Amino acid sequence: MANVETFKLNDGNNIPVIGFGTFQIPADGSTYDAVKMALAAGYRHIDTAVAYFNEQEVGKAIKDSGIPRDQIWVTTKMWLQDYKYEDAKKSIETSLNKMGLDYIDLYLLHQPYGEVEEAWKALEEAKKAGKIRSIGVSNMTPKLWNKFVPNFDEVPSVNQVEFNPYFQQKELREILAKDNVRVEAWAPLGEGNKDLLNEPVILDIAKKYNKNAGQVILRFENQEGIVVFPKSVHEARIKSNLDIFDFELTDEEMDKMRALDKGKGMHDPDAPGVAESLLNAFDVHAND
Ligand SMILES: NC(=O)c1ccc[n+]([C@@H]2O[C@H](COP(=O)([O-])OP(=O)(O)OC[C@H]3O[C@@H](n4cnc5c(N)ncnc54)[C@H](OP(=O)(O)O)[C@@H]3O)[C@@H](O)[C@H]2O)c1
Repeated sequence: MANVETFKLNDGNNIPVIGFGTFQIPADGSTYDAVKMALAAGYRHIDTAVAYFNEQEVGKAIKDSGIPRDQIWVTTKMWLQDYKYEDAKKSIETSLNKMGLDYIDLYLLHQPYGEVEEAWKALEEAKKAGKIRSIGVSNMTPKLWNKFVPNFDEVPSVNQVEFNPYFQQKELREILAKDNVRVEAWAPLGEGNKDLLNEPVILDIAKKYNKNAGQVILRFENQEGIVVFPKSVHEARIKSNLDIFDFELTDEEMDKMRALDKGKGMHDPDAPGVAESLLNAFDVHAND
């Protein structure tokens, strides 16, 4: 991928270090518009999911952009309703069809509950068949990682988890580093958390570099080796969130950012009842 910084994954693939998130962007033309704006601004990595119900618009925006397919990294995620082996195989085909793609760069298991091993087997096979280039998981805490991953043939290439200066996942990152598993940050801006965006430490650093708080946060995450994909539907933010490569935080500034960690996020995947509430939150087959 030309002109885009990448991190190397443990399977040898190079993932663009920054992408564009599409959670909560409706499929009423808004996803199409936002992804088109992101691609025009220079993003070459889009993060979607079956449960975002917007894969079709993501695929159309990619196609209409005219950018060669091999220049764009596309991630999607299987919803936990589909983890039984046969359903998982179908889910992969449905994503390919909806997006109009011959292959998907990264397919994740969106939530770590239920028939995780069956779904993982389907991902491993689709990867061997060339339908997916890299495979990974999401929302795995140390406890869930240790429960499921020892049963996998192939170690995931990424674990996409909540990550921002308030929740820096220190314990998990130590475990993942052993297998060279890349952390991807969801909510890299804390989903727009005003306290985070107004942290005095962050505002001071922002002033020094003539950047905004969002840019300092994303640059910090990037310097920590984390893949980020901020979401916005506003062109000015879409552009500014990508403009993070012309400054670099010093070691001292990195330590100040690290000290903002509260060790706790908005979402606790280990909490009782989470699997049930997620299953009730989205029915990805409502319109089948
Ligand atoms: N695997 C998972 O379970 C999971 C969970 C959540 C998210 N994700 C993925 O991660 C992506 C990013 O996470 P996210 O969308 O939850 O949160 P986020 O990117 O941290 O924050 C998005 C929110 O911040 C606002 N925003 C964007 N840029 C800003 C800036 N520069 N300054 C101030 N506010 C800004 C956006 O508003 P406007 O749109 O109005 O600009 C939006 O409300 C998602 O889109 C999705 O692809 C994955």
